[in-house]
Amino acid sequence: MQGLEVRGLSKHFGGLVVSENIDFDLPPGARKALIGPNGAGKSTFANLVTGILAPSGGTIRFDGRDIAGLNEAQRVRLGIAKTFQITTLFPRLTVRENLRLPILEREGLGFRMFRPAGGDPGIEAEVAALIAQFGLDALADRPVLDLAYGQQRLVEMALTLALKPRVLILDEPAAGVPSSETHLITDAIDRLPDDLAVLVIEHDMDLVFKVARSIVVLVQGRILTEGTPQQIAAHAQVRELYLGGGHG
Ligand SMILES: Nc1ncnc2c1ncn2[C@@H]1O[C@H](COP(=O)(O)OP(=O)(O)OP(=O)(O)O)[C@@H](O)[C@H]1O
Ligand SMILES: [Mg+2]
Repeated sequence: MQGLEVRGLSKHFGGLVVSENIDFDLPPGARKALIGPNGAGKSTFANLVTGILAPSGGTIRFDGRDIAGLNEAQRVRLGIAKTFQITTLFPRLTVRENLRLPILEREGLGFRMFRPAGGDPGIEAEVAALIAQFGLDALADRPVLDLAYGQQRLVEMALTLALKPRVLILDEPAAGVPSSETHLITDAIDRLPDDLAVLVIEHDMDLVFKVARSIVVLVQGRILTEGTPQQIAAHAQVRELYLGGGHG
């Protein structure tokens, strides 16, 4: 199978079972959301897929290949990426300067080649395309610290896309973003490449229902159900969970 194929995945922290027998597929072009209460194990699942954590059991395949033995950097090179966090942005560098960094990294040039003024026309064109894709043209030459929080989160997404991933995991892309700016995040997800496999972990149900074509509900480390947004919205246990739990 093309894309991600997770089977029987489990993770224990001592006696605490955080992922239990998870089966999960993310084919090219997928737009899936992973939802569930705080502590359900959503971020843990993302960390198992990206190689930040080692599973206690089960398998993770990518394009049919078992990736269990690969570390995080090796999985990024295969195309499995989770968004950078704002804390990895350089606040005093401009958006454009920040965006050069992952491209240089991807090309194996790293900081050896780094000059804030730029220089390589191929890299500059790629940076300009990312800036346009994320609607950041007017802000491209402003330091990141001047940007609104929602715009900084767009820069994070743009940085990750510069790695040319085939699987993109967004862990709470709208967390901390004021509701007046969440449309920036939704629009950016809408404009991601069609063939990219996207997994969004999010508590903001407006965002989830706008971007996801399929929703997986995780409760206490187990998949409760998976379905279309319509099916999930009508699911009695999910409704109970969310009406009772106070999210979204
Ligand atoms: N390194 C760790 N060691 C021990 N327990 C951990 C560790 N990381 C996470 N946990 C526990 O695993 C459970 C799941 O955590 P996780 O962060 O995956 O939840 P989540 O669904 O992402 O929650 P949230 O919606 O709050 O982000 C929690 O009970 C958490 O306390
Ligand atoms: Mg989390």
